Amino acid sequence: MSDGERVLLIISGGIAAYKSLELIRELKLHDINVRCILTEAGSQFVTPLSAEALTGDKVYRDLFSLTDENEMGHIELSRDADLVVIAPATANIIAKMRAGITDDLATTALIATDKPVLIAPSMNVRMWEHASTQSNMVELKKRGIHVIGPEIGDMACGEHGMGRMSEPSSIAQIINELLQNNSDTSANQSIITNNLKKLVGRKAIVTSGPTIEEIDPVRYFTNYSSGRQGHAIAKALSEQGAETILVSGPTHLPDPEGITVKHIKSAVEMLSACEESLPADIVICVAAVADWRVANPNLDKIKKNGAPPTLELVENTDILQQISQHGKDRPHLVIGFAAETKDLITNAQTKLSKKGCDWIVANDVSPEAGTFGSEKNRVHIVSKDGVEAWPTLTKDIIGQKLTTRIATFLDNLSC
Ligand SMILES: Cc1cc2nc3c(=O)[nH]c(=O)nc-3n(C[C@H](O)[C@H](O)[C@H](O)COP(=O)(O)O)c2cc1C
Repeated sequence: MSDGERVLLIISGGIAAYKSLELIRELKLHDINVRCILTEAGSQFVTPLSAEALTGDKVYRDLFSLTDENEMGHIELSRDADLVVIAPATANIIAKMRAGITDDLATTALIATDKPVLIAPSMNVRMWEHASTQSNMVELKKRGIHVIGPEIGDMACGEHGMGRMSEPSSIAQIINELLQNNSDTSANQSIITNNLKKLVGRKAIVTSGPTIEEIDPVRYFTNYSSGRQGHAIAKALSEQGAETILVSGPTHLPDPEGITVKHIKSAVEMLSACEESLPADIVICVAAVADWRVANPNLDKIKKNGAPPTLELVENTDILQQISQHGKDRPHLVIGFAAETKDLITNAQTKLSKKGCDWIVANDVSPEAGTFGSEKNRVHIVSKDGVEAWPTLTKDIIGQKLTTRIATFLDNLSC
């Protein structure tokens, strides 16, 4: 994502408005500039001050403010952005959009804009299911308005059903995609993401974190992997309905909800946990598995007398290779991660053919890249079809994008 892209975020008066503050934070992480319009009702749920503090910009609320009109008139406000987003989008603002009503700053900006518009509806299930809302949505989609959600879940009003606003990270992902496609004419076609989960009925195994290899009962060697990328991928797969097993080395991360987590320490344990979890449709080896282990770890603590001990190392079984060459139980899709400090793409291509996996996600783990432990990552997807470079993204968004790519691949495989 290049610097300087601008989103005009309209926060209307829904109970999910507090989540739009999290959305602003997510977008800022991607260096996207956010300018906010708060509707009258929206300002009952979040204060202009919170939105101003997070955007680092003035929040616009009043159509008839002379100061605002002098600084940035409502027309300029609506055109200055690359994308207009309404999150949450209330039943009211959706109805006004459809009817072309312009009785406040938000709706006037919406009718004056020549930019793509994304809405994230959020409301009580009955309001969502009401014939007028449904008919308004059909009409807005026909006009090319992009829509994300709503999702099924428990609501603040105590009911359960469809109407929850999509999570800020998912909205941020769609915003990223729309901004990337802005120059592409296909962006004029409505992107509609609904609550249909893409990986229902699929099983996925993800390895994550480091392994630790014992030297004696009190000492071991390991690596800097934090597990953040592997955990984010497992979470994204599970959110799309995949039965997900996370085989994790020791990390400081909490177990993601709704996922079976198998905690292991060594590479040998990780391999057997993966083998026990097969068969699966998808295996993603994200863990930084130790290449070697100590041949004969000491049963007692090695004492410091005389010369330092010599450690004899033996090679660990390569888990990615073992699963990629699994004969009849081979998963439909096996993905490995290549953590490299130099010659990223060449090394990833070599790894792809040597291991026999389907894709390699190559990431630069040199100290300058700061990948280990960071919230962000920059990856290349290497497959037999070529190399796809992704921009710097949060590890959560990489998990979601990878999940979408996996779902499309499996759909095309029709297995
Ligand atoms: C506590 C409370 C919560 C509300 N939550 C929602 C909501 O989640 N979705 C919605 O469409 N309307 C909700 N409303 C109603 C809207 O605030 C109301 O329709 C308002 O006119 C919307 O104005 P706006 O679209 O200009 O922001 C809520 C109202 C109250 C009092």
